[in-house]
Amino acid sequence: MPRDSSGHLRAGRVSPVRAVPSGIPRPEYVVRPRPREYDGTNIYGAVEIELIRESGRIAARAIEAVGLAIRPGVTTDELDAIGHAYLIEHDAYPSTLGYRGYPKSVCTSINEIICHGIPDDTVLEDGDIINIDITAFKNGVHGDLSKTFTVGTATPAATHLVERTREAMERGIKAVAPGREVNVIGRAIESYAKRFNYGVVRDFTGHGVGEAFHSGLIIPHYDAAPNFSDVMEVGMVFTIEPMLTLGTYQWEMWADDWTVATRDKSLTAQFEHTLVVTERGADILTLP
Ligand code: MF3
Ligand code: CO
Ligand code: CO
Repeated sequence: MPRDSSGHLRAGRVSPVRAVPSGIPRPEYVVRPRPREYDGTNIYGAVEIELIRESGRIAARAIEAVGLAIRPGVTTDELDAIGHAYLIEHDAYPSTLGYRGYPKSVCTSINEIICHGIPDDTVLEDGDIINIDITAFKNGVHGDLSKTFTVGTATPAATHLVERTREAMERGIKAVAPGREVNVIGRAIESYAKRFNYGVVRDFTGHGVGEAFHSGLIIPHYDAAPNFSDVMEVGMVFTIEPMLTLGTYQWEMWADDWTVATRDKSLTAQFEHTLVVTERGADILTLP
């Protein structure tokens, strides 16, 4: 229902807050307007890494469950209900629920929405693309990933954008190695995206993740050298989550203060994994 006459999205009706059983521990920020400033580490040992992997696996399986329900006619609120149910059934808290006031357990970003789309009564249509972004919090740590799905029959341009955005993320992951600056990641992503003349979103980035949802470590997806020169170390945990567009990287924020859309209304896709830096490269912590 909520689309304008040219088919562009607009805000719909958001359902009431979903409950989380009181036995599931919450992140500290849930009862506060914003997270406490994080002064902890981005470097983790083997035990903590396995806990992040457990959160990451639950989030990945929640996305698989949501993916099975994606079809024309389903609402993004129904997809949120599925992701929410999967997380709480596996004793995980949906990290986005109550994060800086975000009202839902899943981010659902359709077509020209770059990220942070809020699930509502928007009905998926044949030919849409939709990013599902889920973060699970369990054992005191977060695992964060997202994938973009096509709905019914997508155009070749949309299908290519989705496949190449996944490939861009994979190239970013392959650039990870101890001793390198984090800006090599965005260099790999942007040089691949440029082949297709895609826009590479700059103002939303990868991030350190683990004990904090967003630790303060920033991972750009464009070639930001000589800035963002943090050196990768074995045990460092962060996300890589490129957003590519069929137009420019400019964006605009909706009145809800969450939904980020391309300014030119061009189609945009995103993929995300959480990973740990190893001696040999990267180990993905958000696999099902
Ligand atoms: N999961 C998103 C990320 O990749 C963050 C969502 S925050 C929210 O960083 F509040 F919008 F849900
Ligand atoms: Co993230
Ligand atoms: Co995410």
